[in-house]
Amino acid sequence: MNFIDQKFPSLRFRRTRKNEKIRNLVSETSVSANDFIWPVFICDGNNIEQDVPSMPGVKRRSIDLLVSAASEAFDLGIPAICLFPYTEQSLKTEDCAEAWNPDNLSNKATRAIKNEIPELVVMSDVALDPYNINGHDGFVENGKIVNDKTIEALVKQALSQAEAGVDVIGPSDMMDGRIGAIRSALEKNGHSEVSIMSYAAKYSSSFYGPFRDAVGASGTLTGDKKTYQMDIANSNEALRLVARDLKEGADMVMIKPGMPYLDICRRVKDTFGAPTFAYQVSGEYSMLSAAFEKGWLDRNKIIIESLMAFKRSGCDGILTYFAPEAAKLLK
Ligand code: PBG
Repeated sequence: MNFIDQKFPSLRFRRTRKNEKIRNLVSETSVSANDFIWPVFICDGNNIEQDVPSMPGVKRRSIDLLVSAASEAFDLGIPAICLFPYTEQSLKTEDCAEAWNPDNLSNKATRAIKNEIPELVVMSDVALDPYNINGHDGFVENGKIVNDKTIEALVKQALSQAEAGVDVIGPSDMMDGRIGAIRSALEKNGHSEVSIMSYAAKYSSSFYGPFRDAVGASGTLTGDKKTYQMDIANSNEALRLVARDLKEGADMVMIKPGMPYLDICRRVKDTFGAPTFAYQVSGEYSMLSAAFEKGWLDRNKIIIESLMAFKRSGCDGILTYFAPEAAKLLK
């Protein structure tokens, strides 16, 4: 960049800030509903809407109400939704078989949404934690989370989601080699149009706490996820993971959490230029919501500012629980 031979008063930055029109003209970044993927929680039953106490304003919805909410989101211009099931304790097992049940909550919701709103992009979550008796994303054997055997299960789970009609598979499990295995299984089974958004740089973060409440995993998780999720201290490793996942067939990559990891978003975008997403995770949502409730931060302004930060850092899109509200604000 050619930085400045000019100096004051020929150089006055305030000239391009003097009114809204000229500010709009020179603005470098924009955020719109087109950038949003809305993560939603599904529960069993009919006509049910439950609050998630640690995420004020976020609900678990039964499929019928989820379809209506999805339809409203679609009408607001939101292109995509990401499904997370709340799994009853009785369906959690050591073999995690519910994960690839064609009629599990996530697959039923996919069919219902695709039936009513075929154009809405549906993204699913691939990981065993909602179905695992011990809350981990992979199988646990002798106290260890086993990689390769987990991949076989993740492939079955991904195929059941593709059969149900998802557009985007989102492996959030952080096992090594799962992107390649899922991609080749999709190709072999006639799902070459189903894309993969890899949770490529997913950190072992404490910002996921409220999400684990939302999906009913908080009580079940034993230990932590540090042997498969990334060390919060690392940055170069994120680039190596993204490179690996792109090579294995990821169409899009994600950085997670979001706001505390914007440095990673920027490095990933600059290095690869691939479709790059960030997940503004549950803890970020809850932290902001708590400050809104206290009256300490301006809700509407902060929502937009927090989302703009992702676009400025190079992200093409954002998974955010604020999606419908932000879409309304941006209308
Ligand atoms: C688990 C999964 C998690 C999130 C998405 N998928 C939590 C975890 O890894 O423990 C977190 C999302 C959020 O915090 O909003 N596969």
